[in-house]
Amino acid sequence: MPTLPDNLTIRRARDSDLPEIAKMHFASYPGISMTLEDRISHFRDDPRISLEDNWVCERTDRLVGIFALYSFQMYRAGSLIPIGGIGRVAVTPEARLEKIAYWLMVKAVQIMDQNGTPISLLHPFRHSFYYNLGWGLAEQVRFYRISPSDIPVYPERAKMKPVVTNEDMEEVMACYHRFAALRNGLLVRDDPVWYEHILKNNLIYSFRSSDTGEVEGYIIYQYQTDPKEQSFTVSNLAVREIIWTTNRALKGILGFLSSQRDQIMAIEYNDHFELPLEHLLKDSLMVDGKRSMMLGAETAIIGSGLMGRIIQLRRVLGAGKLGNGNGRVTLNIKDDLNPENSIPLTIEIEDGKVSFPSRKSASISLSTNIATFSSIYWGALSLKDAVFFGKVEIEGKGDRSFLKEVFTFPRSVCLDYF
Ligand SMILES: CC(C)(COP(=O)(O)OP(=O)(O)OC[C@H]1O[C@@H](n2cnc3c(N)ncnc32)[C@H](O)[C@@H]1OP(=O)(O)O)[C@@H](O)C(=O)NCCC(=O)NCCS
Repeated sequence: MPTLPDNLTIRRARDSDLPEIAKMHFASYPGISMTLEDRISHFRDDPRISLEDNWVCERTDRLVGIFALYSFQMYRAGSLIPIGGIGRVAVTPEARLEKIAYWLMVKAVQIMDQNGTPISLLHPFRHSFYYNLGWGLAEQVRFYRISPSDIPVYPERAKMKPVVTNEDMEEVMACYHRFAALRNGLLVRDDPVWYEHILKNNLIYSFRSSDTGEVEGYIIYQYQTDPKEQSFTVSNLAVREIIWTTNRALKGILGFLSSQRDQIMAIEYNDHFELPLEHLLKDSLMVDGKRSMMLGAETAIIGSGLMGRIIQLRRVLGAGKLGNGNGRVTLNIKDDLNPENSIPLTIEIEDGKVSFPSRKSASISLSTNIATFSSIYWGALSLKDAVFFGKVEIEGKGDRSFLKEVFTFPRSVCLDYF
């Protein structure tokens, strides 16, 4: 594990740090419209994280950096895994390009390792920076700008109702939970997260089936006026989240969006679910999109989303289930920040369940770095592609076909921003 230079101290934030923290945050996140006082309250009262779970870097009596370490729980294959969310990474303008952010992340990995947090997640400012530190791409997002009139007016929209009462809201939360429990990657949300972060300044409509009475899906969105438009009514509709547990709920939500066509110019939607919307839309051209012979119609913009990192390799492998398959392999995973992960690890897989045999060798070995292995774990990169791109090397004699099966994971989805 790299050792922190003597002139740096990274410690938990305290109340007396708040003025300096607010200035650092102000200089680093000018796009967030908050005054210095707002930023102080944000750090002091955020229901998702206490002030002490923010870590500051001190150099000769001045703060030069900060990061927040959220303690989340992630749904994966029907169980919950503790996951460290990293956010608010910031370095004072005068201390940049001096590896302060690097040392902050070294410390973050150390803390998560000591706390027994086996995995981590973050929204990167630059993917290559975090890749070098062991975080790998964890998902893919497609950004759509859809004209509502390109969506069919499904009659199921008649079941869409505004969420008004606390009971309605509880049912929406239960719907999210049912949906998340069947997937990999979504985060557990408690009430303050729902009310302070997900719903703040947003509207919410849910789809309730008439036969079961259950909320089977919902949409959270907000209106965004377009500076070019002079009208009081016309705007864009920015979707924060769509969740559906039945096909009819998805049709209800889409039909609801379609019915907004006389007011809404464009529906902006970041799709994490690989919905084949090009087949659904009347015209697969996004609003303001281009057509060309080579591209056809510009339908969506592809984004590489957030990044995940395995912090404790052995624990992650031992706790969860891999894809179905049987075999034995030695993993050589390079991890500069947590050398424990770099120790060759022989695993025996039986129907996807992992054990650690006492004879620590196998005829097949798989070598890669922790960032690439993390991308595979999050289902964002297939083993086949990783080998093709030269990111994974498989060596040794014997049948290696089981590797593709055991290291194939469903794509992960995360809809939280932090
Ligand atoms: C992004 C931010 C945190 C980076 O902080 P930093 O302390 O300057 O980062 P580092 O010095 O550790 O590393 C930045 C790059 O400079 C390089 N670097 C470090 N010292 C260097 C030097 N002396 N000369 C040249 N390059 C150097 C690092 O190697 C790294 O590049 P790499 O990704 O190619 O390896 C800082 O610019 C910031 O606060 N930005 C605004 C807020 C923000 O974007 N936060 C991140 C949210 S996820």
